[in-house]
Amino acid sequence: MGEAEINSKGKRWSLNGMTALVTGGTRGIGQAIVEELAGLGAVVHTCSRDQINLDSCLKVWKSMGFKVTGSVCDLLHREQRENLIETVSSVFHGKLNILVNNAGMAIHKEAIDFTADDISTIMVTNFESGYNLCQLAYPLLKASGNESIVFNSSILSVVAISLSAIYSASKGNFQLI
Ligand SMILES: NC(=O)c1ccc[n+]([C@@H]2O[C@H](COP(=O)([O-])OP(=O)(O)OC[C@H]3O[C@@H](n4cnc5c(N)ncnc54)[C@H](OP(=O)(O)O)[C@@H]3O)[C@@H](O)[C@H]2O)c1
Repeated sequence: MGEAEINSKGKRWSLNGMTALVTGGTRGIGQAIVEELAGLGAVVHTCSRDQINLDSCLKVWKSMGFKVTGSVCDLLHREQRENLIETVSSVFHGKLNILVNNAGMAIHKEAIDFTADDISTIMVTNFESGYNLCQLAYPLLKASGNESIVFNSSILSVVAISLSAIYSASKGNFQLI
């Protein structure tokens, strides 16, 4: 097996030479995605709202031999998304192979009790920000010549449970054709 075919996991699968942006990579599923992609050889950039937690994760990933950078971004805000993609463009020299829209949140309430702020926060975090990141990252993805976009959805987008009306709506399928 050639050297290029082996990654840190010692498997044939390899993402060597690939770049990835994973939103919300500092804990939970996003953290696992960062570590999986980096373990397969990708260079990864991630973001969260918490600088201290982000720095702590970056330190751990460095000690594991992973190539991961990170920057603070609150995806609720359009200008911070623009700054994030500018940073990604700078770090990855204008080329992005993989965009993982992972960051998300939920507020659980009776359907009748959701406030306008609740609805806006859930829909912007889970739906609008990911959609907008696709638009902003489009030139970088096309420039890479080998691009993938992943959305972290939820079973709740197809199965209704109580207290999750807005979260379910926010996790509906995108059609990026
Ligand atoms: N856990 C589940 O059972 C489950 C099931 C199905 C789908 N999902 C989906 O999977 C994704 C990850 O879920 P999880 O349970 O791993 O979540 P989590 O543990 O709460 O982690 C969420 C990550 O996103 C970041 N984040 C949240 N809001 C953000 C914002 N406005 N701007 C930037 N970063 C933000 C958080 O960092 P900071 O808080 O520090 O910013 C954190 O790194 C979500 O989209 C969720 O809807 C989860």
